[in-house]
Amino acid sequence: MALAHFLVIVLLGAPLLLFPCAEASEVGVSYGRIADDLPDPEAVVQLLQDNGITMVRLYDADPEVLSALANTGIKVIVMMPNEEVAAAAENPSYALQWAQCNVSDYYPDTLINGVAIGNEVFELKQPDLNRKLVGAMTNVHAALVQLGLADDIKVSTPIAFTAFRNTFPPSDSRFKDDIAQSVMKPMLQFLRRTGSYLSVNPYPFFAYADNPRDIPLDYALGYNKTGVVDQNTGLRYHSLLDAMMDATFYAMENLTGHINTMQSGGTNGGDTKWSESGWASNGQIKPGKKSLPDGGSLLEASDGFQLATVANAQAYNNYVINRVLSGKTGTPYRPNADMDIYIFALFNENKKGDGPDDVEQYFGLFCPDMEKVYEFDFRGGAGSDVHQP
Ligand SMILES: *[C@@H]1O[C@H](CO)[C@@H](O)[C@H](O)[C@H]1NC(C)=O
Ligand SMILES: *[C@@H]1O[C@H](CO)[C@@H](O)[C@H](O)[C@H]1NC(C)=O
Ligand SMILES: *[C@@H]1O[C@H](CO)[C@@H](O)[C@H](O)[C@H]1NC(C)=O
Repeated sequence: MALAHFLVIVLLGAPLLLFPCAEASEVGVSYGRIADDLPDPEAVVQLLQDNGITMVRLYDADPEVLSALANTGIKVIVMMPNEEVAAAAENPSYALQWAQCNVSDYYPDTLINGVAIGNEVFELKQPDLNRKLVGAMTNVHAALVQLGLADDIKVSTPIAFTAFRNTFPPSDSRFKDDIAQSVMKPMLQFLRRTGSYLSVNPYPFFAYADNPRDIPLDYALGYNKTGVVDQNTGLRYHSLLDAMMDATFYAMENLTGHINTMQSGGTNGGDTKWSESGWASNGQIKPGKKSLPDGGSLLEASDGFQLATVANAQAYNNYVINRVLSGKTGTPYRPNADMDIYIFALFNENKKGDGPDDVEQYFGLFCPDMEKVYEFDFRGGAGSDVHQP
């Protein structure tokens, strides 16, 4: 008995000894609530705990949700909605009041560790608002400094992958011209100065839908044995998610002129978080879907191919979860990169998108009745192998 106990401790302790400095990556969920049939927040928090989910991203700072998350140890990113970004930029006292009511009043009982200023603001196509974004981030950060919270709570803003151009090969990737110098450059400087991170929403799902003829499905779902080579660098990509992550790193690096800004603090690549990624289990992609690259060719029902299936969603989201749990989070260009990622979404949301046949309603890991849409395991053990070179 005692010997068995001892062996268990040795085995459990071994990985820690092997990687004493590794800062583990973490996988969380995006808790969207655009639905009229979701369980109440208390039940949702119980669901998170029952499933070993340790971080969530919210799309607001709802008092009931934040209270339900108190004293759970779950890390929480709250969001200032897009409609409030202009006011926060123009008025520091608005930003201060916002941070007081929506962050400081709940912290530290509720473990808020980030504030998202808007969501995919560039997708609104409001150049005036784009120019206010960094101002709003700066004012909210200043508010957190004033409240004594800036060390623990970082300010960022999730951007859609459409912020980039020429994303394949990854080494050619750049921020789009209309935002590169005017918004992204000062934003990256802000993020660096405040010890924060860039938030990006990479969706291999939409990239694949845009170009199903050139992109192998298994590459989009997680792993293709042959892979695709970036001719500029000779690096081979087995996963579209890796290619999207490296496209982000190359674009950042090109804009700041810093080779390897990501590694300045160590070996981790830790100044980027993947604030949304996921795969729908049902429905059709509706034209005009926001996360698609401009001018993309959409997969239609008439193509006779169903992209959003339970099998595909299960494959992709298990790939992401198991990838993070495996610790093999590096990319071809950033072999030591961390990978903090939020799966979109916790629930299927019946008020999203354009009717019940829209994929937007089927990104959930869970149905509103809290049944899983398919099997997955945030503690490991769902069994899928993670292939990494
Ligand atoms: C911020 O807090 C106020 C006061 O509790 C609340 O009315 C408002 O809805 C909150 N904002 C968000 C985005 O949840
Ligand atoms: C893997 O990708 C190659 C192209 O790089 C493609 O020819 C092949 O069909 C893909 N494999 C599968 C199983 O889809
Ligand atoms: C950024 O990319 C452009 C080409 O897109 C190149 O001319 C320029 O030298 C690059 N800048 C840096 C700092 O790498």
